[in-house]
Amino acid sequence: MSDYLHVQNIYKDFSGLKVLTGVEFKVKEKERHAVIGPNGAGKTTLFNIISGKFKPSSGAILFKGEDISGKPPHLLSRRGLSRSFQITNVFQELSVFDNILSGARSRYGLRYHFLKRPRHDRNICEKVEAIIEEVGLADVKDQPASSLSYGQQRALEIGITLSTEPELLLLDEPTAGMTREETDHAIRMIEKVVVDRTLIVIEHDMEVVFSLANTISVLHYGTILVSGTPDEIRNDQRVKDAYLGEG
Ligand SMILES: Nc1ncnc2c1ncn2[C@@H]1O[C@H](COP(=O)(O)OP(=O)(O)OP(=O)(O)O)[C@@H](O)[C@H]1O
Ligand SMILES: [Mg+2]
Repeated sequence: MSDYLHVQNIYKDFSGLKVLTGVEFKVKEKERHAVIGPNGAGKTTLFNIISGKFKPSSGAILFKGEDISGKPPHLLSRRGLSRSFQITNVFQELSVFDNILSGARSRYGLRYHFLKRPRHDRNICEKVEAIIEEVGLADVKDQPASSLSYGQQRALEIGITLSTEPELLLLDEPTAGMTREETDHAIRMIEKVVVDRTLIVIEHDMEVVFSLANTISVLHYGTILVSGTPDEIRNDQRVKDAYLGEG
């Protein structure tokens, strides 16, 4: 299989602070790839570079053979690469349905700005309904986002990301701040959502990592310490020393 995503020797510094110093790894199509590493290791910075929010200081991001480094997020989203955010990007006063609809409209771009009543476009409404079902929010689809529980808000963020029809989905700590029960629920939902897609997920919760990922890369001091299967990572002495501890 040819490389689907190739993160190629990425360097990033912020006015002298060297955050990424030669990050290199590959992701295959349909892979479920977790990026783990201690706080401040540069995981979110790496996502910001892959998703086009930041330009790398040097290095390249190759997506399906094309150099996408520095291309803006909305163009990448039209090519099928979308991220959800660690910080919420939900419109609190809008309903679940309208939040996802607005994401879907942005996916189709200008075309829908000319439609006075996009809710009447059956095709797009059917897609929105299907996404609501996928992320498990059918019961609350007409409620304002502000009335949702924390776990439901995070599910809505994923729904908004799905509305752009990503084939490569980037999730930054999708279960952060959740209770154990919300986390288990989120894992099951994400597992369903990523069937037929490629996933890169940043996560601190090792239970989430080991249930979702089939490949794991450990980011440590600005470079990838090791990439491997969950078993290889679990048994890697360098990873134990640097990150997992002996627990
Ligand atoms: N826009 C920015 N300007 C300056 N420094 C930044 C910027 N973004 C991140 N940094 C710095 O880069 C380093 C890595 O931050 P980053 O958020 O990528 O880490 P992380 O691995 O995602 O951490 P966490 O696990 O806590 O989310 C930190 O020292 C952070 O302060
Ligand atoms: Mg982060």
